[in-house]
Amino acid sequence: MPSTRLWTWKRASNSSTAESAIVFEEIRVRILSDSDAVIARQKGREVALILGFSRTDATFVATAISEIARNITVHAGEGEIIIRSITENGRDGIMVIARDEGPGIADVTAVMRQAMTTGAGLGMGLWGARRLMDDISITSQPGTGTTVTMKKWGRFDEVGRLLED
Ligand SMILES: Nc1ncnc2c1ncn2[C@@H]1O[C@H](COP(=O)(O)OP(=O)(O)OP(=O)(O)O)[C@@H](O)[C@H]1O
Ligand SMILES: [Mg+2]
Repeated sequence: MPSTRLWTWKRASNSSTAESAIVFEEIRVRILSDSDAVIARQKGREVALILGFSRTDATFVATAISEIARNITVHAGEGEIIIRSITENGRDGIMVIARDEGPGIADVTAVMRQAMTTGAGLGMGLWGARRLMDDISITSQPGTGTTVTMKKWGRFDEVGRLLED
């Protein structure tokens, strides 16, 4: 598993329209401890703000990242978080992938249907992340690890952003 943190972004100019767009590559944060989860949370917030998310939405993204990163340290031991900008069907957004090769989740459907835990937590992490993001999917098999993919689309709420500033 790569331990590099890629923090690459570039402004790509489109010569035909003379418009410029921010194009992110991706950021990877290797998650070994809770302090790495804090770094992933901060990076997620930074990226969301640069991509044009409101501060409130950037905080939602950061909180969701924090929960899935903490799940890696608590339930799997180690893994990584990948943060990317995405465009789908003309919408721009942020995608977060959390990957580990830990014990996996036996019943993904049950975990997503309601708050539930197999540990000492409240079982609110995935349940909360589902509500904070627009889209979340989990692939997991016992013994092979877990991948959580989350997306959130930019609202481009300029008025809201001005009010927040
Ligand atoms: N990366 C993971 N690897 C293995 N199991 C996981 C992973 N993430 C979540 N789980 C399983 O899914 C359950 C629900 O996770 P969730 O984050 O919602 O709650 P929690 O971590 O138990 O408690 P909380 O997040 O509220 O402290 C966990 O109890 C655990 O069994
Ligand atoms: Mg949790």
